[in-house]
Amino acid sequence: MAIILDDVSHTFHEFLLLPGLTKKEHVPANVSLKTPIQSFRLAEGPRACLNTPFVSAAMQAVSGPELAIALARKGGVAFIFCSQSIESQAQMVREVKEHKAGFVESDSNLPPTATLQDALNLRRKTGHSTIAITEKGGRNTKLLGLLTSKDFWEYKDDLSQSVQGFFTPRERLVLAEEGVSLQDATTLLWKNKKECLPIVDREGNLRSLVFRKDYYDHQSYPDELTDSRKRLLVGAALNTFDYMERASALVEAGVDVLCLDSSDGYTEWQAQAARELRKRFGSDIILGGGNIVSADAFRYLVTHGDVDFVKVGIGGGSICITREQKGIGRGQASAVMEIARERDLFAKESGTYIPICSDGGLNSDTQMILALAMGADFVMMGKYFAMTEESPTAKISYRGRLYKPYWGEGSNRARNWQRYKQSEAAHLIFEEGVDAYVPYSGPLSDKVDVSVVKLKSTMCNVGVLGVKELHEKARITRVSEMTVVEGGTSTVEMLDRLQPNME
Ligand code: IMP
Repeated sequence: MAIILDDVSHTFHEFLLLPGLTKKEHVPANVSLKTPIQSFRLAEGPRACLNTPFVSAAMQAVSGPELAIALARKGGVAFIFCSQSIESQAQMVREVKEHKAGFVESDSNLPPTATLQDALNLRRKTGHSTIAITEKGGRNTKLLGLLTSKDFWEYKDDLSQSVQGFFTPRERLVLAEEGVSLQDATTLLWKNKKECLPIVDREGNLRSLVFRKDYYDHQSYPDELTDSRKRLLVGAALNTFDYMERASALVEAGVDVLCLDSSDGYTEWQAQAARELRKRFGSDIILGGGNIVSADAFRYLVTHGDVDFVKVGIGGGSICITREQKGIGRGQASAVMEIARERDLFAKESGTYIPICSDGGLNSDTQMILALAMGADFVMMGKYFAMTEESPTAKISYRGRLYKPYWGEGSNRARNWQRYKQSEAAHLIFEEGVDAYVPYSGPLSDKVDVSVVKLKSTMCNVGVLGVKELHEKARITRVSEMTVVEGGTSTVEMLDRLQPNME
């Protein structure tokens, strides 16, 4: 007979955190949300970490380059979706890595024979106001000077003239030679009161540019996640079919974190893919696996697959209909708690800590904090990010409100059949996700700021200063239905309901 588990499957809605002693040191300014994303030896301490415990779902409607850039600047990581060609996924990764390297490759270059009109056209195309004038008009040829928007007036100057008489020639520029550190480059900009510092090689060919505004940008994003070359961090998803070829292209493009993305990751295919990827790319690459919902699946993946982190969650996603279609899955709270327990046991036995990520169904900041308190090291969200300005979809207006489209990877629209692996026969493939709309919520940065403030404030109530301490000290209680009702407003009339009738 089948094994019937004694416990009921629980969701985050059914729990509340109890406040602990809040000491004077428990103020939001002292709370750190830094959390590991890579496995580590307990004796050695964490390796790669997120500064904010949020990652975005590997979905077409969520994780494109623009969102990845916005999220990395807030301290999290986006997983660029794999339901696209290897070339276009690698190109998206490249876009993020090239975004702000401190040393930026110049994408606006012209030869000295170009006209002011050419410069204007290029400026409109790239949106960048600094144009490098190079011998052959290309990136890696001899630098002759810089033309900026201050050098000519669009409505006063004759635009058919050559750029010759307008750009600042190389002799009057401050330059630095390739190999200079970002710190020294920034000092040069500061001391010489310049906006842009071209970096050239020994032959005088243009290699990159350093901008003063990037320095300012960096200062205003204290949680920004960057690699050793000051490039933003980015992740990408893999399937268990073309993983080797895909991973090679992604690594080549500069990806920092890879994750095998299957709706059910408790499989021999996933363990094999993880093993082979590890063998090919070594221990430095961060490699995640999932999704799973039970302790035995965790054990299996970490022992047979050598993954760095594991994603937890089946059937809880906001656009997900897997539970209806197939009857598999588990309440997200039960899954996270059971796997967190197993993660801790495994760490005790082996000395290796494997972070876990709670993926799907997080609809509010309270659910995020519960997921973290129950043992998740970080959380993955789809809908939360799909609603933001930076998700890769266009806003639509409906009855005076703005919305963004949001569809599941298992929907007909995404056609990510590798994630679901159902049937060889095309006509027998069925959907596990829906195609929907979500309200538009504005810029990602503002949204993450609000969530972070709430997380930190709750952690102060609990009396902890970090995610690890939250795991250890959180006290969580099950709630009755009436407790949930009691938690809402009661016996008051809400202003927005009264207002339509008020004169
Ligand atoms: P959300 O944050 O509740 O919107 O859930 C996002 C998560 O749902 C993703 O990270 C995936 O794990 C999962 N997911 C994405 N597409 C589908 C689908 O079509 N069916 C089921 N689950 C999905």
